[in-house]
Amino acid sequence: MEIGHHDALYFQEDAPEIPDADYDALRQRNLAIEERFPTLKRADSPSERVGVKVKSGFGKIRHAIPMLSLGNAFADADVEEFVERVRRFLGLGAEEEVAVLAEPKIDGLSANLRYEGGRLVHAATRGDGAEGEDVTRNMLTLDDVPESLPGRDWPEVLEVRGEVYMRKSDFLALNARQEERGNKVFANPRNAAAGSLRQLDPKITADRPLHFFGYAWGEVGRALGETQDEARRTLEGLGFTLNEPARLCRTVAEMLDHYREIERTRAALEFDIDGVVYKVNRLDWQQRLGQVSRAPRWAIAHKFAAEKAETLVKDITIQVGRTGALTPVANLEPVTVGGVVVSRATLHNQDEIERLGVKIGDKVRIQRAGDVIPQVLEVTEDGGGESYRFPDKCPVCASDVEREEGEVVWRCTGGLICDAQAVERLKHFVSRDAFDIEGMGTKVIEEFWTDGLIKEPADIFRLAPHAEAIKGRDRWADQKVRNLLEAIEDRREIPLDRFIYALGIRHVGQTTAKLLARNYTSLDAWRAAMERVADERKETPDETKKPDRVGEAYAELTGIDTVGMAAADSLAAFFGEAHNLTVLNGLAGELDVTDVAAPAADGSPVAGKTVVFTGTLEKMTRSEAKARAESLGAKVAGSVSKKTDYVIVGADAGSKAKKASELGVATLSEDDWLDLIQDKQSGEDRDAEHNGGNTQGALL
Ligand code: IVH
Repeated sequence: MEIGHHDALYFQEDAPEIPDADYDALRQRNLAIEERFPTLKRADSPSERVGVKVKSGFGKIRHAIPMLSLGNAFADADVEEFVERVRRFLGLGAEEEVAVLAEPKIDGLSANLRYEGGRLVHAATRGDGAEGEDVTRNMLTLDDVPESLPGRDWPEVLEVRGEVYMRKSDFLALNARQEERGNKVFANPRNAAAGSLRQLDPKITADRPLHFFGYAWGEVGRALGETQDEARRTLEGLGFTLNEPARLCRTVAEMLDHYREIERTRAALEFDIDGVVYKVNRLDWQQRLGQVSRAPRWAIAHKFAAEKAETLVKDITIQVGRTGALTPVANLEPVTVGGVVVSRATLHNQDEIERLGVKIGDKVRIQRAGDVIPQVLEVTEDGGGESYRFPDKCPVCASDVEREEGEVVWRCTGGLICDAQAVERLKHFVSRDAFDIEGMGTKVIEEFWTDGLIKEPADIFRLAPHAEAIKGRDRWADQKVRNLLEAIEDRREIPLDRFIYALGIRHVGQTTAKLLARNYTSLDAWRAAMERVADERKETPDETKKPDRVGEAYAELTGIDTVGMAAADSLAAFFGEAHNLTVLNGLAGELDVTDVAAPAADGSPVAGKTVVFTGTLEKMTRSEAKARAESLGAKVAGSVSKKTDYVIVGADAGSKAKKASELGVATLSEDDWLDLIQDKQSGEDRDAEHNGGNTQGALL
């Protein structure tokens, strides 16, 4: 939530409250928390988003290929791991060199410039990654943005991506001028650049010295080279300015060397940077690596360290989440860290409190890297207080708390009777990746819950009759009520995957929700299957290892690739609870839940087919094969069933190959499979390839 708040300030208002290193730290921290404690992952987790929706005032432009974000590395080990991941994914041997281009990460705002026939046709900001603002006229006022490309040797379609920034010296001069005139001064060059680019009057932009570095591309009619390095040179030849100092590194040691060198000379650069970006040099490898979530697998940002500060722990309080997880929070004596006032830090769980040995009254060192939830690093001064005692009752509903074996998180057992959980579930339901109801944020949910207007999700869609009553309230102008009701109406139709995700079932995040939706295709089919799963599970409560022994529906569920027993059991528990079925019935009466179409893969011979890979593949790694199959619209399953269409059998395949022949499922060798999908790539790839191009928008 805090990240969301800062995103909005940063992306929409150009007025962040905190330094960027802090923001990054927050995001990183959030990711780390999510990785270590997946159950704490929020519905609207910032790790799933890039920026925020654009503010109106400019026309909107849909990016031909989404503009991605970058994963972050903070420690040297993260960089090493990045290269290892690349090796693993591509199945490279330890002796094979992975050349990586390392260049400064510019702290500006990214933009996409589209050229057709050598002329700039439009320029857009990144926006939410899918759609940005049309800033063509403003971009044309920049010296390093050519209106037409020199010579003749350019691809018919060329999208250049890069960073708009303001030099430090220009920033200082601009602020001095602004102050003199009594105008708003900017917090940093990045905000000044964003504010200047987003002037509705291009004359004002022309007056503000902005620059542009080209470092990437979107749709291109023809490949810009075989490597990142070559592509950079091509861009330079076409009149774009490159961000330097860049270096082609052959080893991790060289990458880290370059990072240290840039960090050391950072202050002397003319522009602000916040880290180093590493990009796998070979473009064919970039293409194969593709993307995960909204970041490429072939690049990573190595960020500079976050700022630290010391302060006092005034209190330790407990927050109860949607799944009942109890999260301790340190309430701090407010302290400024890198320009932002911090008054709370998460302590994650009881183990973390014990590890730190933190008590009320202690002084602690905190660190804010990147965003707002700061991290407590260590106790610096013992306040002499008593050890913190983790509560044994839920602070909201007073139910007992329990901790599952092997888990670090204590949970409230109140389930449906716990108000805290109910409210958190509602917040999740309306959150960005779920129903995404504009105007229905945390505060509104809390207000309507307290007043009894919304007790369960379906009530959201029954608010219209209460419009007059709401209009009578404080801070509820007529227009605001109308907007909210409209936003709600807009969401009566919802794709099945979002619907499933919105239910907030433990272990069912966005990825699992998508897999479920694609596998069962309709709400009715999914629900029927899940009720069978719940029944089967009730009959075999002790079966903890073998899905097959639980039952057929259960086996099908766990056979969906990456849906494990934890998710299956949690689905079984959800559907085994009568109240949840009532909630679902309520929703079904209000909504039109639409079936989920397979990803666009026209002409793909495997669209909608269920495939299983088994044994050792020789031409590509399992991860690559799976990613490729999915991009062609296939469903990848982890086990063979009657519903499997093809089993691709690699070397030393075991029981799955046998099961396939027992069930009469078609088996293919790796070569058969490659023949089958040959030249049958997803629409986007095919177009790019058709033009001989290589895009940096990964496989969708
Ligand atoms: S490459 C597919 N290179 O960082 C990845 N990005 O945190 C395309 N950025 O959205 C980006 N300097 O706005 C790349 N040398 C650089 C960069 C850079 C700054 C920005 C860019 C991106 C963000 C991700």
